[in-house]
Amino acid sequence: MDQILILDYGSQYTQLIARRVRELGVYTDILPGDAELTDERLAGVKGVVMGGSPWSVYDDGAPVPDGRLYGLGLPVLGVCYGAQRMTADHGGAVATLADREYGKRPVRVAGPDPLFDGVPPEFLSWMSHGDSIERLAPGFRAVAVTDNGIPAAIVHDSLPLRGVQFHPEVSHCEHGTRILSNFVFGICGCERSWTMERYIDEERGRLRERVGGSPVLLLISGGVDSTVAAALLLETLGAERVHLLYIDTGLMRKDESVEVMRTLNALGASHVHRADAEADFLAALAGLTDPEAKRHAIGDLFITVQRREVERLGLGDDYFLAQGTLYTDLIESGKGVGKQAHVIKSHHNVRSPLVEAKRAEGRIIEPLDRLYKDEVRALGRALGVPEAVVSRHPFPGPGLGVRVLGEVTKEKCDALRAADDVYIRELRARGLYDRIWQAFAVLLPVRSVGVAGDVRRYGWTVALRAVASTDGMTADVFEFPMRDLLEISAMITNRVPEVGRVVYDVSSKPPATIEWE
Ligand code: XMP
Repeated sequence: MDQILILDYGSQYTQLIARRVRELGVYTDILPGDAELTDERLAGVKGVVMGGSPWSVYDDGAPVPDGRLYGLGLPVLGVCYGAQRMTADHGGAVATLADREYGKRPVRVAGPDPLFDGVPPEFLSWMSHGDSIERLAPGFRAVAVTDNGIPAAIVHDSLPLRGVQFHPEVSHCEHGTRILSNFVFGICGCERSWTMERYIDEERGRLRERVGGSPVLLLISGGVDSTVAAALLLETLGAERVHLLYIDTGLMRKDESVEVMRTLNALGASHVHRADAEADFLAALAGLTDPEAKRHAIGDLFITVQRREVERLGLGDDYFLAQGTLYTDLIESGKGVGKQAHVIKSHHNVRSPLVEAKRAEGRIIEPLDRLYKDEVRALGRALGVPEAVVSRHPFPGPGLGVRVLGEVTKEKCDALRAADDVYIRELRARGLYDRIWQAFAVLLPVRSVGVAGDVRRYGWTVALRAVASTDGMTADVFEFPMRDLLEISAMITNRVPEVGRVVYDVSSKPPATIEWE
């Protein structure tokens, strides 16, 4: 299958380039910007995009591409840092601007190039850079310039090398999709081969071949990813071979466990194992208030319960372990560079000893590991997973354990479940749920004075969170309609007597994270 390789130099926009190209129907893979470009790695690659970066090209340690890159004969498009890197690597010069250029800037196309086919001679581009090309490298010419005379696009006279200073992947960039499409189809000659039907066909073939006649165990979290993975496995391998394990930590949302069981049954599963471990988890969390201590306690216990339940299933040694790992999970855990270089939160779903042991045996299957979240949703729809599950907001592995701030108790979990249920139901009823990437309630360890009837009330504080995002790596605050917010707040304090006050979280990520712990 044709693919575009994206070299990651640490810009937050790198993922966006990958997604935009996939939306055009071409598979993308992201590699660290300095990765070795072996023949094996280049199989199927029709073009390379060098992404942006927080680095300046002359910084000590600034990442450089494999020396083979420019001589491969493959079309290369440098974006922002990528264009500057390409310039510096070919003997041109890059300089720091007096003022960082950010936002929409007019660009004038100064010469014919297939990159600008169908693009008007002037358009508004999206800029975000502190450095710019000062002197073109020999062999390069500018085919577009900004209104202040800076090269906005460069092309080599004889090699298939191009660069743009602006960000065609950002939706604010006029004709950005057209420019990317010109590169991917016109210049690289890619075929539109990345479709869900093709993915399903290929993945089913791969699964059958890898698994043979062995049983498969899939860990179910109740979220979109594991449910869609279950649907794919059930449809491909049949219900007899697929064992589903769901650990109920007691840190789930209202009625969630019942709904998970219902969904799996509707998908035709016949071996569904539900382990009720609420008491274990509450005991492990008793007295803990530090977020990382809580995350570790939940993660460790999860592993213990997982091991115990897997033994209880008696699947023997030759079973395969399936996981609903997504492409972004791999990137976040270090496949690219510049992402979460240090641990901001320990996501417990990436390093379980069971998973590691199975990986070492070569018995892990991750049928979603090439997909982004929106592609998993499309796959789920194609496989008949109910829309309510497919469009469900993400939910963290440690569940309410990180949404009841401070010490977790059953009473607090129950109060939070009730408040969250009112919130989410209302979002759905008001047509807001699908406009929000992730929404949830958080129980703060703060009590405040209020009045109900004529009686003094001393209740907990609930914070409502709603964010817009594409992958959870960055997030904007959802601009909640005020009237809805006020009405939902009143419903929560009326229906959940333990809650005396409701606040709305107006922090974006960064600097805040989406979850509070
Ligand atoms: P943060 O809070 O890091 O969250 O901005 C980003 C996204 O990840 C989810 N999240 C988790 N998901 N295990 C998960 O599976 C975890 O430990 C975990 N912690 C946070 C969070 O809900 C948001 O969607």
